[in-house]
Amino acid sequence: MRSIAIASGKGGVGKTSFVINLALALTQYHQKVIIFDADLGLANIDVMLGISPKFDIRYVINGELSLKDIIYSTDYDFDFIPASSGVVELTNLNTNQKLLLKDQMEEVFKKYDYLLFDSSAGISENVLFFLYLAEERIIICTPEPTSIADAYALIKVAYKNHKIKDFYLIVNMIKDEIEGKRIYQQLLYVIERFLPEIKLSYLGGIPFDECVKIAIKSQIPYLKLCPEKDISQKINQIALKLQKFNYQKTKSLENFLERLTTV
Ligand SMILES: Nc1ncnc2c1ncn2[C@@H]1O[C@H](COP(=O)(O)OP(=O)(O)OP(=O)(O)O)[C@@H](O)[C@H]1O
Ligand SMILES: [Mg+2]
Repeated sequence: MRSIAIASGKGGVGKTSFVINLALALTQYHQKVIIFDADLGLANIDVMLGISPKFDIRYVINGELSLKDIIYSTDYDFDFIPASSGVVELTNLNTNQKLLLKDQMEEVFKKYDYLLFDSSAGISENVLFFLYLAEERIIICTPEPTSIADAYALIKVAYKNHKIKDFYLIVNMIKDEIEGKRIYQQLLYVIERFLPEIKLSYLGGIPFDECVKIAIKSQIPYLKLCPEKDISQKINQIALKLQKFNYQKTKSLENFLERLTTV
């Protein structure tokens, strides 16, 4: 199993829509995928998929249900674990709540090839918890300077607080590939200068496309709604590239479990 957290620093850069479409792309490569909505107090995965789950993470945190009771299937062959909407106390989990979640994760996730955490924006303790818990992490930014600055800030805090050193970068809403690569180079330049221990790999750029808004309004992944578009081809390429990173699944699961005991 590979566990990957998707985070951003700045909000509204396209994390949730990316996670849903990446999950779908991976299932089309016959991977077994589960999304964990890690935006615990402001759930979005269910809304984007047009699903109204009866139970969500709040019931697990309260001890009424266990994680395996709140796994929902979707129309797209991947599963998901829903978060809550408008629940302030979930936006900052305490140590006991983190332990409770961790204790149940092993049993639930080992049957999947990919566990994707859709994180909330910002540099809160929750974001850092999921960044640390996951074995790999994707940072998303857009070409806006504020979003690039916030991506850098998040990487810096994750490194300073948890010694996290490896990140992938996705640049979303680009006008062409050159723009995506240029932003990666900019960020890399600053990181090499000020945080030389960090490894930042470029996973790819995703074009700006009105299809994303239409897909969200229709509550259907854009990969399904407009498979012929450039944006859908790009998601498929990213899913392929992610799989090509040479990971031994058994080792990944072991590492993940080790992290569960040390967070
Ligand atoms: N590639 C894209 N092209 C055009 N619009 C996009 C693209 N990606 C995302 N968007 C738009 O950006 C907005 C935010 O998307 P999304 O909810 O996925 O972001 P987010 O990072 O998960 O937000 P939050 O930080 O609130 O969780 C949506 O309105 C969506 O339509
Ligand atoms: Mg989101």
